[in-house]
Amino acid sequence: MLSFILQVLLFSFILDLAVCAIADPTVSSWKLHEKRSHVPAGWTRAQKHHPSASIPLRIALTQSNIQDIEAFLYDVSHPDSHNYGHHWSPAQIAAKFAPSAESIRTVRSWLIESGVEPHRVKLSPTKAWLEVTSTVEEAENLLNAEYHVYDHESGTKHIACDSYHLPEHVIPHVDFVTPTIHFDAKLRKRRQSIRVPISQPGKSGPKTTGKVQDIFHQLGNCDEQITPICLRALYGLWYEPVAAKANGFGIVEYTPGSYLQSDLDMFAKNFSTGLQGVSPTLVSIDGGVIQTSNENFDNNGESDLDLEYGMTLVTKSQNVTLYQVGDIIEDASFNNFLDALDGTYCTYSGGDDPTQDAVYPDNAAGGYKGKEDCGTVQPTNVISTSYAYNEADLSPAYAIRQCNEYAKLGLMGVTFLYSSGDSGVAGDGGVCLNADGSQSTDGKMFNPSFPGTCPYVTAVGATQVSPGQSVWEPENACEQVIYSGGGFSNYFGMPAYQRTAVEEYITAYPISYPKHVYNSTGSRAFPDISANGANYVTAVDGAFIFIYGTSASSPVVGAILTMVNDARIARGKSPIGFINPAIYSTGFVGGFNDVTNGTNPGCGTLGFNATTGWDPVTGLGTPNFPSLLSKWLVL
Ligand SMILES: *[C@@H]1O[C@H](CO)[C@@H](O)[C@H](O)[C@H]1NC(C)=O
Ligand SMILES: *[C@@H]1O[C@H](CO)[C@@H](O)[C@H](O)[C@H]1NC(C)=O
Ligand SMILES: *[C@@H]1O[C@H](CO)[C@@H](O)[C@H](O)[C@H]1NC(C)=O
Ligand SMILES: *[C@@H]1O[C@H](CO)[C@@H](O)[C@H](O)[C@H]1NC(C)=O
Ligand SMILES: *[C@@H]1O[C@H](CO)[C@@H](O)[C@H](O)[C@H]1NC(C)=O
Repeated sequence: MLSFILQVLLFSFILDLAVCAIADPTVSSWKLHEKRSHVPAGWTRAQKHHPSASIPLRIALTQSNIQDIEAFLYDVSHPDSHNYGHHWSPAQIAAKFAPSAESIRTVRSWLIESGVEPHRVKLSPTKAWLEVTSTVEEAENLLNAEYHVYDHESGTKHIACDSYHLPEHVIPHVDFVTPTIHFDAKLRKRRQSIRVPISQPGKSGPKTTGKVQDIFHQLGNCDEQITPICLRALYGLWYEPVAAKANGFGIVEYTPGSYLQSDLDMFAKNFSTGLQGVSPTLVSIDGGVIQTSNENFDNNGESDLDLEYGMTLVTKSQNVTLYQVGDIIEDASFNNFLDALDGTYCTYSGGDDPTQDAVYPDNAAGGYKGKEDCGTVQPTNVISTSYAYNEADLSPAYAIRQCNEYAKLGLMGVTFLYSSGDSGVAGDGGVCLNADGSQSTDGKMFNPSFPGTCPYVTAVGATQVSPGQSVWEPENACEQVIYSGGGFSNYFGMPAYQRTAVEEYITAYPISYPKHVYNSTGSRAFPDISANGANYVTAVDGAFIFIYGTSASSPVVGAILTMVNDARIARGKSPIGFINPAIYSTGFVGGFNDVTNGTNPGCGTLGFNATTGWDPVTGLGTPNFPSLLSKWLVL
């Protein structure tokens, strides 16, 4: 079968050559570069695309030295490294990873030898993309692909192919080509439907259980109500920050998600000192606005939760930066945020897929008409995001490229925290994977979340104080309303920092599920750590309600790590940056409260068990602030 396919490919290659009448091309056999297994739900294939129609081909060049990024990152992040904390400047990063002259030359020569006139091959300003406006016929010949028009039930049309090929010698120089297999046409409100704030009601059901009747606000009731004092007691966070000037804690929200000042004030009145009337420092990205025209739990729950707890736990002495991303019309993606932090990642410069990520200026009525934010924003030392995709929502190439960007920001000294998901081993909305890669509620395979599976972020799962227990007893995996997201990636291999911990888990507690149910090939395991995610008393739209989710866990961990940075900076040390190589190292044993009870069900299973040591439910456990502080102060 395989050789049959190869013969067909070779045959069509020879035909292409005949059609294009090219003299003596660089001979190298063709290889499949990317292939899509199924047409996503809602789409149907219509006619073949017209041969003379125009296609804006964009070829993403591989970044040079990217294969060494893990080693570079460990060099500045591993506690045993002499260079621990010696983070890189943005200029050093840009220089190290820019596509090589060889990549540009190889891809350009292939295009020209294939009959594209040299003046049509355009290199993007930062030398990361080659662009050719071609006809469908020409693109099909170049890529050994067949373009079809696809119709979405909403009426949107999209041009795509099922697979495409490149000459073998070109493959190492190309990340991916657009438009090709990526089913990323912009649908109205589509992004919201796949990248939901984790604490909000997803397809899986509500994440709030409604109003709080009487607030106890005391340590004796943390099994029923989580308030800031419960978290301080659980994690030993009795700390007054000192070096506020140089430290930053960023929380990312995506419009129309917005906080209400009246909610922050209501929370502050009962649970914080000196924070009434205080707002986070707003950094608006791509027209990000604090909208107040549409007040409801969906729009305010996530932002209110993140900011009320984030700001309270770092106290009034430490500013919290709010990265508010995207205008009210178009919304935005993680890539839009990353573009703002790193100019080298921007559209036309290497990172974005213009059909997946929001395009600014936004031409729609009421859209943000300013320029896209591109390298305009300074990252804070710690950045917490409580939104996520299912890994399977994105193509591997897209996810890998974004993941590498987190590594670059880690090299700069930024700690990236992402919630690990609220549906246990299932994906957001309780959907699981089918054998063909599609997602449905009756799928049988575990469905990990992204960016939590990116080895260069720290994924945060959820725990609870179980009913009848106190803050002085060990927490358990969260089993109220939500289940902690965890498991094994389908896109990313296992990073060295977690190998020992994960292998210990697999050896001590052999996983009973058939190998096809979860990825058993030694891939990135998550979450890394966890924190409480149940019964958060939160002021939303003028009332105190309960919220559940890893959405809460991530900003809480962010606040704790920000306090570690505060102490380090006060002693003239660098921020902690990418923490994973440190937290899994032997020196950090005791830095986390091990969580050994509870599961994260999903996909018709009980999921995994929280156990002694690292586990795919609660990771290494919850932060023990005094212990972490002492460990990080000697590095
Ligand atoms: C806020 O705190 C006050 C004083 O401790 C208390 O009387 C009030 O009930 C609390 N607010 C709510 C909504 O419980
Ligand atoms: C904190 O934020 C306020 C208001 O945005 C600003 O005036 C102040 O300079 C900030 N403080 C620090 C220490 O960055
Ligand atoms: C384990 O978790 C369950 C569910 O939260 C709880 O009922 C039980 O008491 C826990 N066991 C221990 C030993 O904490
Ligand atoms: C399992 O993960 C690896 C990456 O570690 C990946 O190459 C492989 O395709 C994944 N398997 C499945 C069935 O998705
Ligand atoms: C979880 O623990 C239960 C009870 O000990 C065991 O039967 C089950 O196989 C474990 N599940 C996994 C995935 O390890």
